[in-house]
Amino acid sequence: MAKYKIAWMPGDGVGNDVMEAAKLSLDKLQLDAEYIPADIGWEFWKTEANPLPDRTIDILKNVDCALFGAITSMPKEECEAELIPELQGKGHVYSSPIVRLRQEFNLRTNLRPCKAYPGNPLNYKDGIDLVVFRENTEDLYSGVEFFPFPDEVREVVKKHNPRMARFDSHPSDEVAVSLRINTRTGCRNIITDAFELAKKTGRKSVTVVEKPNVIRETSGLMVRTAREVAKNYPGIELWETNIDAMCMWLIKNPMDYSVIVTSNMFGDIVSDLCAQLVGGLGFAASGNIGDKLAVFEPTHGSAPKYAGQYKVNPMAMLITTRMMLEWLGENDKADALENAIAAVIKEGKVRTYDMGGSNTTLEVGEAVAAKL
Ligand code: IPM
Ligand code: MG
Repeated sequence: MAKYKIAWMPGDGVGNDVMEAAKLSLDKLQLDAEYIPADIGWEFWKTEANPLPDRTIDILKNVDCALFGAITSMPKEECEAELIPELQGKGHVYSSPIVRLRQEFNLRTNLRPCKAYPGNPLNYKDGIDLVVFRENTEDLYSGVEFFPFPDEVREVVKKHNPRMARFDSHPSDEVAVSLRINTRTGCRNIITDAFELAKKTGRKSVTVVEKPNVIRETSGLMVRTAREVAKNYPGIELWETNIDAMCMWLIKNPMDYSVIVTSNMFGDIVSDLCAQLVGGLGFAASGNIGDKLAVFEPTHGSAPKYAGQYKVNPMAMLITTRMMLEWLGENDKADALENAIAAVIKEGKVRTYDMGGSNTTLEVGEAVAAKL
């Protein structure tokens, strides 16, 4: 029996292209793994009204981790229109399978390293080395939303918070509400993870990014919890920055920052910004990490128009694969892959179009595997 069971989930669009490229390295490294294909994505929404079928959930309950390619998602109305005719008009509502996965398996930490590889022509500045910790299951992603906003809920809210009265003149069917739900446990976990990484890697600061001056309760909880947790890590400074200012500072002085920790929605936004500092989504890797399962995915979209063309940059997927190896404890293999990625970027001979080259996804995958 293989040492590891890994769910293999290319998903939509270019997911398959980039995963095929990463597989070349996994094979070259001779990772002792069984790869178990699992269905996820748009195809299964269209034909089964479920982009994350139960059979995939069952597979995920029995693997060590999963590699995931990319996902297509669309606004509500467009989703309905894409269903096969027999499924239309039955009240099926699309919800993002990756968000569901994160919640169903409590993949509470979203880890997003953003490093400027030397020689990458897309670097905003050389030397940038950021790690974003994004809380992954709560916040505005909780999915507790109302439209219309039921009168009885409105009355209860008004009883507990008079500010609600300001919206009295708007009829319920013209009020949309999304609850931002953050828990102390959620805050503590993500902040602890951020400090633990700082400690392990000798980083000197952790920046908590929120907006407690306005969003007093949820952002406030995050910042207060960060102050508590920070006490356990003498020698690592806690910096507090508002999300708006942080976007500005990251453009101005990206080198000042090291570990960034934030809630789900702000983390979604700021991690795209950080990705752009180091070459764009072609370099944006991530791990969704829980206690029992971890799902590794590049954070670029599915780019449907490029699907099957082997045009897009597989670097994000390769870096994602390196993260998976590290998480599995295969440190030698992880280091080897990291060095191979860095070498191919530095040499600059094999590059996809976004980096100014004309090589295919698989040629980049082959170049990396050849270094191993
Ligand atoms: C990400 C993506 C997802 C998110 C989408 C695809 C639901 O943007 O992983 O950053 O919002 O979390
Ligand atoms: Mg995102």
